[in-house]
Amino acid sequence: QQFTVVVPAAGVGKRMRSNMPKQYLPLLGKTLLEHCLDNLIAHPRIKHIVVAVHPHDPYFADLPIAQAPWLTRVNGGAERADSVLAGLRAIDDEWVLVHDAARPCLPHQDLDALLDLADEEQGGILAYAVRDTMKQANAAGFVATTLDRSHLWHALTPQFFPLAELREALTLALNANAVITDEASAMEWAGKPVKLVEGNPCNIKVTQPIDLMLAEFYLSKLLKNGRS
Ligand code: CTP
Ligand code: MG
Repeated sequence: QQFTVVVPAAGVGKRMRSNMPKQYLPLLGKTLLEHCLDNLIAHPRIKHIVVAVHPHDPYFADLPIAQAPWLTRVNGGAERADSVLAGLRAIDDEWVLVHDAARPCLPHQDLDALLDLADEEQGGILAYAVRDTMKQANAAGFVATTLDRSHLWHALTPQFFPLAELREALTLALNANAVITDEASAMEWAGKPVKLVEGNPCNIKVTQPIDLMLAEFYLSKLLKNGRS
């Protein structure tokens, strides 16, 4: 079985403070977005990618990859969830993956582990357990309490769900103005199970300027190891 990935790439990258959206910043000879898409389509179980791009984006059309037969472009929306929903509307499959354009360092091994959920008929996400002690703050900037770290995970992408269920959950959650920062939060909101699949912390989301150095390090390692 082969799968389609929706890649939201319509953000402006405010926290990156760069003169162009971070997905178009160059790294090791290509843009972050090209690395992300190349890495996904190189996986044998990925057949197609839908990229959500800002309607007035001046960069995407100039990428050689924009002409690829395995790629569909749709217009993104105001929030990440709007962009993802636009992508979901363009496909007709049983399952769908959603993966951030700003995560170019996804190991194929992790993608394999996530895709195995299709056999268990359970959706889920890549994630890794937090390492630091976690504090909850009060409004004055003091520690209110220390959280039980053993139950806390960092949510990564890809996130992998039955397409119809995710489309419905996102639509309902958006209509209810729920705070939806990833696909799993929409599924949780709809009362659906979300399995945690342990992934590699190298699968970072490039968010701040310093992340580019980390991404370069992880990406060159990944490429040297045949993407595993
Ligand atoms: N994204 C999107 N549409 C939006 C907002 C975000 O497709 N309206 C995408 C981004 O392009 C990115 C992914 O969602 O690939 C994860 O979002 P984030 O890391 O927050 O990127 P930005 O929103 O661009 O960055 P920032 O929050 O710093 O502005
Ligand atoms: Mg954002």
